[in-house]
Amino acid sequence: MTTSLKGKDYIETQDLSLAELNLLLETSDELKAKFHRGEPTVVLNNQTAYLLFFDKSTRTRNAFEAGMTQLGGHAHFLDADVTQISHGETPADTGKILAAMGHGICVRHDLVLDEGNKYMREMAASCNVPIINMQCDVDHPTQTLADIMTIREHFGKDNVKGLKIAVTWAFAPSYAKPLSVPQGLITLMTRFGMHVSLAHPKGYNLIERTVESAKSNAKESGGTFEIVDDMDTAFENADIVYPKSWGVYDLMLERQNATTKAEIDANQQACLEMNHKHKDWICDERRMGLAKKSAVYMHCLPADRDAEVTDAVIDGPQSIVFQEAENRLHTAKAIMACTMRERPF
Ligand code: CP
Repeated sequence: MTTSLKGKDYIETQDLSLAELNLLLETSDELKAKFHRGEPTVVLNNQTAYLLFFDKSTRTRNAFEAGMTQLGGHAHFLDADVTQISHGETPADTGKILAAMGHGICVRHDLVLDEGNKYMREMAASCNVPIINMQCDVDHPTQTLADIMTIREHFGKDNVKGLKIAVTWAFAPSYAKPLSVPQGLITLMTRFGMHVSLAHPKGYNLIERTVESAKSNAKESGGTFEIVDDMDTAFENADIVYPKSWGVYDLMLERQNATTKAEIDANQQACLEMNHKHKDWICDERRMGLAKKSAVYMHCLPADRDAEVTDAVIDGPQSIVFQEAENRLHTAKAIMACTMRERPF
């Protein structure tokens, strides 16, 4: 049977079969090659995608906006704060209205545990156009698709199985970052037979169901999944290191109850105070030395320089972060093209 994603939602990579994920990866490769050859890819002409943001963005917004233009359609940017959502309009009603006027709805709702994923699924249940998750509290599936694309490019498509990836917490003083990137990485990389080592200090645990998915995915694919409590152990002999910060689990959960600005600020401050107890969780040249000589450094960006990572590492020869960031464009285009029409190529 031919694999098709037409009309499907893209909320968690766990919702997709391996064949569907591979279709997106092959389409991303094709779109990237065409982009670099300067060939047009007008496969969504006259189509409209709505980009609804509850949080800030540089890469994701621009990948989807530029991507939709390059596919021949138009992407509307919607700041949730200046829509009727801020007066309480429900996800179902908002979804029905936008679906009646366009062809796809992309949503970022990532800052509060137990909210964003539910919001997207409620919206998806109410409308008949694809809902694309641009980052929620559970997964960041457009990021991790770009990550696996980059890994395939770097190591070769047939060499992904058996690679060791260190997904580790790192110190950041800027803000309490969502849990969705590490959760998305442990669930997706275990699908592809990789050996995933997750490291974090006490209190920075991830949502249990994503950990359970990582365990069962690893069993099915022939990969492995472990959780350790120090960065060095995870880095040892790794092929890929992906150190990034995320928030304290219990505090991120409590954020749901913070409604006033003062309460939200206090919750944020408590998270950052906890982060400061682990300032030694930084990716530096000594730690890179624990990984394989051929290892690569990855990060979804933005990175807190001199906190999550030193300049020498992120700007050094092992870093592939800018290739990874560029691939956000090609994967965003593939996701929109494959869900909003029959396979384009
Ligand atoms: N990696 C990522 O999602 O970047 P933005 O927050 O800038 O979209």
